[in-house]
Amino acid sequence: MFVIPAIFKPESRNKALDIGLRRYDEYKGWGEVRDTFMTTATEHLVNIEIMGKKYAVPAGITLVQAMWHVGLEITRGIGCLGGVCGACSTLYRTPGSYELKTGLACQLIVEEGISFSMMQSFPVRKPVYKFEEITDPKQALFKHFPEAAFCRNCNACTEACPQEIDVRTGIWKAAFGDFKGASDLFLPCVMCNLCVPVCIAEISSNQVGLYSRRVQGIFFEQKPDALLTRIDEIEKGKFDSEWKRLRSMSRSELATVSLP
Ligand code: SF4
Ligand code: SF4
Ligand code: FES
Repeated sequence: MFVIPAIFKPESRNKALDIGLRRYDEYKGWGEVRDTFMTTATEHLVNIEIMGKKYAVPAGITLVQAMWHVGLEITRGIGCLGGVCGACSTLYRTPGSYELKTGLACQLIVEEGISFSMMQSFPVRKPVYKFEEITDPKQALFKHFPEAAFCRNCNACTEACPQEIDVRTGIWKAAFGDFKGASDLFLPCVMCNLCVPVCIAEISSNQVGLYSRRVQGIFFEQKPDALLTRIDEIEKGKFDSEWKRLRSMSRSELATVSLP
């Protein structure tokens, strides 16, 4: 069953839920889906272009479904089919518009004349940082993401974001140490990477967003008392013997362990 997190705006959440549930019911392998569409959905066709090749596909299906429909066996760049995992980043154009648009292939519906290609995976810079070694999160931001200080305000990242996140403002908030503001803005980020290649300052905006969310949670959010108590107990070794006992058990013995 698809679970669409509550962090998504109601309209996109409903859309994602609707498409996701439909896809989940239908998806039992690309071949079966393709055969289903081939036999049942041929009343109204639209002309589209996938990676430069022309096809006619049933109206009302998603770009992912269109690729399945024409027999493309997509094994990479597909995950949740519900607009949540960010795997299906896609570039597309529509007739009458000069704009090169970005979106998620599992969320976009085919339209007459649309031309699209799924984006290939590309190397993304992922700085490694250890929060236990960080004392000043703002200074550490510039250590690990020095390019974050050079945003040129072009807004291309915001334009590219299928989640309609104000990415540019998020970067500025992070750069000024407003990690609460930045993490709130980046909350619906699905890490699709569409904001990364468009940045003229070479900022991996989504990674800055992720850093901000982590910083906010670790350094600034108030922790529940029960959580702090449990962490203290763990650090003082209260559960060490139990943990040792579990780790020494075989698989069959573990299967008999009941939870409290
Ligand atoms: S912020 Fe970037 S990675 Fe996150 S959803 Fe928007 S475009 Fe995708
Ligand atoms: S694309 Fe890069 S330079 Fe442009 S506003 Fe976004 S973060 Fe700043
Ligand atoms: S497949 Fe997960 S967002 Fe499209």
